[in-house]
Amino acid sequence: MDFDTVIHGGTVATPSETWTGDIGIRDGRIAALGDRLDGGARRIDATGRIVVPGGIEGHAHIAQESSTGLMTADDYHTGSVSAAFGGNTSFIPFAAQHRGESIDAVLRTYDDRAAPNSVIDYSYHLIISDPTPAVLQDELPRAFARGITSFKVFMTYDLMNLGDRGMLDILTVARQHGALTMVHAENNDMIKWMNARLADAGLTAPRYHAVSRPALAEAEAINRAISLARLVGAGLFVVHVSTPEGADLVARARAEGLPIHAETCPQYLALTRDDLDRPGMEGAKYICSPPLRDAATQAVLWQHVRSGTFESVSSDHAPYRFDASGKFAKGPEPAYPAISNGMPGIAARLPYLFAEGVGAGRITLQQFVALSSANAARVFGMDRKGALLPGYDADIVLWDPEETRTVTAADQHDAMDYTPFEGMRLTGWPTHVLSRGEVIVEAGELRAERGRGRFVARQPYRPDPDAPLIPEMDPAQNFGAEIRP
Ligand code: URP
Ligand code: ZN
Ligand code: ZN
Repeated sequence: MDFDTVIHGGTVATPSETWTGDIGIRDGRIAALGDRLDGGARRIDATGRIVVPGGIEGHAHIAQESSTGLMTADDYHTGSVSAAFGGNTSFIPFAAQHRGESIDAVLRTYDDRAAPNSVIDYSYHLIISDPTPAVLQDELPRAFARGITSFKVFMTYDLMNLGDRGMLDILTVARQHGALTMVHAENNDMIKWMNARLADAGLTAPRYHAVSRPALAEAEAINRAISLARLVGAGLFVVHVSTPEGADLVARARAEGLPIHAETCPQYLALTRDDLDRPGMEGAKYICSPPLRDAATQAVLWQHVRSGTFESVSSDHAPYRFDASGKFAKGPEPAYPAISNGMPGIAARLPYLFAEGVGAGRITLQQFVALSSANAARVFGMDRKGALLPGYDADIVLWDPEETRTVTAADQHDAMDYTPFEGMRLTGWPTHVLSRGEVIVEAGELRAERGRGRFVARQPYRPDPDAPLIPEMDPAQNFGAEIRP
């Protein structure tokens, strides 16, 4: 058997084991694994390297307008290049529906943005802000049939919030058609109430962003979102969990066997609300929602990373530059509610998780693989990605576990003018990134042609049929009523 490429002598890590040997690649797929594979038009010496499936970034905002119409700094070229330098071979940015838009039109727009530009494989999660009957009955099922089998909804922001009834309706559609609902869970009215109090007191500096969005607002909304999903018997993915209370709610639901999934992000593990209190307007760089918390929170979130409450650590890359095109689109010194929400991090996600997770002894190498790619592939239905097995796409990253580098904005290869991780010393960096067998990053250089990335049609999401039902939905306990969607 001959190969296009053989990756030779690396320490190969999967979610369940680590072994030393070779990976043979042919026609973009993994063709063989073995102690020693001969041949190969190209042989990559992986001695001393760790070999893992390419990262799958499950949460990124790329070429996306916010609800107020502000475009992210990264498009599908810069965003995907930055992702690739950070050890990712696939990503699933959002395709955002704003009020009045049809899903078909939204997807045409994002196809035009992604297909000519992405250097890595991609799919989209939809964002749904206007679940009209046409959207629920026709357009969403059409998107699911195309393999876009997840979407995000918001419990906050006036222009995005669906309300509980809207959430129930869309969870029902997701359950019926095999899709996964992702949720941004923060209580909208609590935040608006806090904003009004802070404004009355004249407290408008960036640091008050953290005060305005209490941990309680996240916990309340996560509890409600899980309850709504539970009523319907639908799966739910809670994005960017930032609080111990929220993580505990997810852990409890998972322990009960409910199909509840969740992620946290490096910023909630690495940064704190003190970063919002930097001099002048510097704190604006650290405004994201939910907000950064404190050191005690970080320790608890790491425990939930280790225990499996979080199935992924995602970047929530939301790149708005530190200028009038981004953070200060509404003026040079705006009150915190007018500062664009979000921070970049797609290139730093995996080096951070490798160094501060595996390197610092908080997680194992196997957990790193699960958190960086394997779980995202399973939960989001990428059935040819996230594993180093024959037949899978040869999306493979070699890591040098010894290399130490300092994070700088220039090394992110994105369109941003800052990184919130600036100055962090991290040990463990990707040296070779292969996407479908092609080396796309090597020796610090991009080798990928713009537009080589392919759309990935994803499998449906089906919650475990044995997941417990609430009694009122169970015909054995509700006088035989068949009211389950
Ligand atoms: O502040 C953030 N995270 N902005 C991005 C949008 C979102 O809610 O994920
Ligand atoms: Zn969000
Ligand atoms: Zn986000």
